[in-house]
Amino acid sequence: MSEKKLFQPRVAEVRKVAHDIYLLQFHQPFLSRNARAGQFIEIKTPFRPDILWRRPFSIHNVNPDDGDVEILFHAVGRGTKALAHLGPGDTIDILGPLGNGFHYDDELREAVLVAGGLGVAPFRLLQRELARRGVPMTMFYGVSDEDQFCGVDFFDAHVNLKLSTVDGSRGYKGVVTDLLVEYLDACDDLAHKAVYVCGPTPMLRRVQEIARQYPVPAQVSLETIMACGFGACVGCAVPMTHPQPGVKEYYLTCKDGPVFNIEEIVING
Ligand SMILES: Cc1cc2nc3c(=O)[nH]c(=O)nc-3n(C[C@H](O)[C@H](O)[C@H](O)COP(=O)(O)OP(=O)(O)OC[C@H]3O[C@@H](n4cnc5c(N)ncnc54)[C@H](O)[C@@H]3O)c2cc1C
Ligand code: FES
Repeated sequence: MSEKKLFQPRVAEVRKVAHDIYLLQFHQPFLSRNARAGQFIEIKTPFRPDILWRRPFSIHNVNPDDGDVEILFHAVGRGTKALAHLGPGDTIDILGPLGNGFHYDDELREAVLVAGGLGVAPFRLLQRELARRGVPMTMFYGVSDEDQFCGVDFFDAHVNLKLSTVDGSRGYKGVVTDLLVEYLDACDDLAHKAVYVCGPTPMLRRVQEIARQYPVPAQVSLETIMACGFGACVGCAVPMTHPQPGVKEYYLTCKDGPVFNIEEIVING
């Protein structure tokens, strides 16, 4: 795992790609060469000294040939709305790469990606890493309405993609976990398959139930609220399924994660 570093790259572009969703691009050759899918960076919001803590974002995409890095973010609050107003040449202060990233079993024969909303952010890089290993992918990608889809053309060209929307505006009408159940039901053999999931908490809880029921191994990338991002504040604790009282009862999402085997953690909230 690469050592985390501080960088002050200049923004190349901030572009709106869907409803309230933006793609931030900057040039940082070290990150683009060393970041792995599932890792994240922390960004200090520029021009906003009132926003003290850095904000964590998954590394969405890298291009090691030209040194570019991309972050896909939802403008939900003070920090992210300020980031949406940045322009070319603005300097951002970032810390990374942080966290563990997804892991791959040598025996893996098919990966099933389940993305809910902005949970799609780490999957572009995951797709690249799995493709490099020659692992076929099926991806279930759900949002509440079609205005929130990002990168559908890219995923459609590279994985077996099935979409869902809660309002039925595109793809299956309903929640994305229904598609996962339908898929697992139709599989004769789940050996050497693995599920990778990122999205809102209720969806993660449902995937945990499904993974137990079939059973199939699953890795989850958590987006727990964070402060320091490197294990100092204990603000991102998540309970362990099998606590060792007096030894270790919680994982720190920023340091032990953000990717966990879904069986290892209690998904609250
Ligand atoms: C490892 C990790 C990876 C993430 N990757 C992405 C990503 O790729 N793209 C993306 O858009 N978001 C991602 N997030 C969530 C993102 O960090 C938050 O949306 C962001 O910190 C909100 O900052 P804000 O100042 O805009 O919101 P605030 O003004 O601080 O709060 C606005 C709302 O966002 C909620 N919120 C605040 N911080 C977080 C948080 N860390 N996680 C979830 N909700 C939060 C608050 O409870 C509140 O409801 C990730 C979070 C983690 C921990
Ligand atoms: S965010 Fe501070 S310990 Fe994890």
